[in-house]
Amino acid sequence: MRRDPIGHNDYARAKWGEVLKLNVFGTTLYACYGMDAAEKIMINRERVFASGPAWGHFIGPFFNRGLMLLDFDEHLQHKRVMQMAFTNDAMRRYHQVMVPHIRSGLEQWADVKNPRMNELFKKHTLDLALETFVGVDLPQHEQDRINKAFIAAVRGGTSIIRANVPGTPWAKGLAARKVLEEFFYTHLPAKRRDGGDDLFAQLCLAESEEGERFTDEDIVNHMIFLLMAAHDTSTITMSSMAYHLAKYPEWQEKAREAALASGDDYDSVVGNELLERIMKESMRLCSPVPSLPRVATRETSINGYRIPEGAFVTVSPYYNHHDPQYWPDPFHFDPDRFAEPRREDHSHRMAFQAFGGGVHKCIGMYFAGVQVRSIFHELLRTYRWSVPSDYTWPLDLVALPFPRDRLPVTLERI
Ligand code: HEM
Repeated sequence: MRRDPIGHNDYARAKWGEVLKLNVFGTTLYACYGMDAAEKIMINRERVFASGPAWGHFIGPFFNRGLMLLDFDEHLQHKRVMQMAFTNDAMRRYHQVMVPHIRSGLEQWADVKNPRMNELFKKHTLDLALETFVGVDLPQHEQDRINKAFIAAVRGGTSIIRANVPGTPWAKGLAARKVLEEFFYTHLPAKRRDGGDDLFAQLCLAESEEGERFTDEDIVNHMIFLLMAAHDTSTITMSSMAYHLAKYPEWQEKAREAALASGDDYDSVVGNELLERIMKESMRLCSPVPSLPRVATRETSINGYRIPEGAFVTVSPYYNHHDPQYWPDPFHFDPDRFAEPRREDHSHRMAFQAFGGGVHKCIGMYFAGVQVRSIFHELLRTYRWSVPSDYTWPLDLVALPFPRDRLPVTLERI
């Protein structure tokens, strides 16, 4: 499974069918293969599958009451309000805030000895998040303290001992959650008063058409969750893009030509279609959230298999994105699959599921597109990077994917 997850799942699917009952670390779950099962679970027409108890099992105590941990009417109510912080106008403002920080951040890469792209993106997105998400001027030691707390909260969910036992990642995650709560509560009154172009300020201002607004507690819960939801996902997306553009230098050159020919304004950067296709193809081959869990709130069936009430089910974008029925030659990096007339992403309603689907579909999808394309726009214009021709990245898929060697590259300034 670890060595060859796709091959292993193909084998299991062929031998036992579309739904496989598994025991993972003491939890029984039903792995559901294929696009039709994904549609049934994610689109969730019968309102059977709940996200909160499923994700809550893994990350609940650290990301309590984040949007993905809410369900049904309450979830929709929060999503309506949050949507106001993700409008087209808001995206333009976030872009303006991020561009100078992207430029100054990338400038520093020239001095990095033995650059590892995954490490560089991770740090860069964390620094950027403080500007675009939080928008509070902090002295360096305070930035470091918040970054550290944030990383500990994310690690909490990977703890093997899932209880508040001192010294475990779980206990450190709980302590970190307190630090983050205290931080956001401290800055909240000034944000409510002064506003700003950052996400924190936009959540304070957000009001749905029905006049619903967030309480202080909602804003703190959502901010902590949003930081987490955006960080590793964007890091792995960019790492996958960097890896594939290094493995296929002809695509890197095409992308560079497009970036050099494009203007620097929001519409040109976000409208760079080649970069969009490269991003999608990199996410298809390496889905940043490889598996999406739900809990059945009552007995139901998937593709004719009985799913008991309370059971965990999972959909795997990582696996489904390699299904040759929808994605011919699925292991091959080919951004043109997303171009007309091929449009392999239209081969099924759920063919491309890197951002999920249905009511819980990623609210930050466009934000991610703006941030990733803005970074690559600058990166391609500033540097050329490469890996040895026989290099294959050692992808760790135990939790969210990451290259175990952090993706070492040769980076040269153009
Ligand atoms: C390339 C980067 C990203 C990827 C691949 C990604 C992927 C996903 C996926 C797969 C889900 C659905 C999870 C499920 O159904 O169980 C999701 C939900 C979510 N994402 Fe993202 N995400 C990305 C970036 C972002 C960013 C930048 C933000 C915020 C600024 C964000 C905020 C959220 C939120 C709030 C949810 C929960 C939505 C809901 O429950 O209604 N994500 N994301």
